[in-house]
Amino acid sequence: MMKIKIGKIRLKNPVMVASGTFGYAKEFEKLVNLKQIGAIITKTITLNPRQGNLMPRICETAAGMLNAIGLQNEGIDYFIKEKMPYLSRIGTPIIASISGNNIDEFFILARRLDKINGISGIELNISCPNIKCKGLVAQDQKETYEVVKAVRKTTSKTIITKLSPNVTDITEIAKAAEDAGSDAVSLVNTFLGMAIDVETGRSKLGNITGGLSGPCIKPIALRMVYEVSKNIDIPVIGMGGIMNASDAIEFILAGAAVIQVGTANFIEPGVSVKIIKGIEAYLKKHKIEKIEHIIGSLKT
Ligand SMILES: Cc1cc2nc3c(=O)[nH]c(=O)nc-3n(C[C@H](O)[C@H](O)[C@H](O)COP(=O)(O)O)c2cc1C
Repeated sequence: MMKIKIGKIRLKNPVMVASGTFGYAKEFEKLVNLKQIGAIITKTITLNPRQGNLMPRICETAAGMLNAIGLQNEGIDYFIKEKMPYLSRIGTPIIASISGNNIDEFFILARRLDKINGISGIELNISCPNIKCKGLVAQDQKETYEVVKAVRKTTSKTIITKLSPNVTDITEIAKAAEDAGSDAVSLVNTFLGMAIDVETGRSKLGNITGGLSGPCIKPIALRMVYEVSKNIDIPVIGMGGIMNASDAIEFILAGAAVIQVGTANFIEPGVSVKIIKGIEAYLKKHKIEKIEHIIGSLKT
């Protein structure tokens, strides 16, 4: 009923946990049954360790949060040696999120991960708004094409390209990823935003600006998923403010084959499993045999 395929990955249900909101899964092992989740996307890793941005790195906003972590991580060697043994044992598909400063770094990261059995797929984070460089790969059609093409050449694992909402026309970028051989696109990453403490006159984030997530972004993310899914043939993985099963179903009706849960994990660590059960109950209530039957079935 709930099974779905993304590239070569067979998922038992259409619910993934989003990169950067679920650590490397071990952090959540006592809080949620990891075996029940459709797939786990690990926190973005880079070639070399990164210290991340100045504190404070997160702050609450009305109906959401801002973060500017700056891709803090220990680098790929540490990930493979220290995190993969545990992740491989869970029995849930693991999708490794990677980010590079240039095409070569994406290529090297993908080549390393291609050899790791416990990894089912690679999510290309070309859309993190919190790193200091001239622009995001995901803001440029040609660069998106080139990064995905380079990664495609080096791995036969499933590639998911994660898009940024901080663009004029997200469908153009999605098409570039599809043309270059991506198996799916995921959207959205966070929206660039900021918040100021009026007493100190300073930004509430050390990095000054950050990425906005949570329920406040849901209507915009939903619209983007709707537009992208109408314009490409590969599966769309939707996210942005999904807090419950009803939110998830909205994304599926708009065209998402699979959804990801992000900020909600911080509020309720077990929410992904609740969402899975809620989608299942919805399918039963409406006598829908397979989740596939309602993907993009919005009535217009
Ligand atoms: C604290 C925090 C850290 C994040 N880190 C990453 C990351 O490392 N890589 C990535 O691709 N997205 C990262 N994201 C973005 C989420 O994966 C997701 O795209 C975004 O938050 C929108 O979904 P949501 O509204 O359900 O949180 C992060 C989000 C938050 C809130």
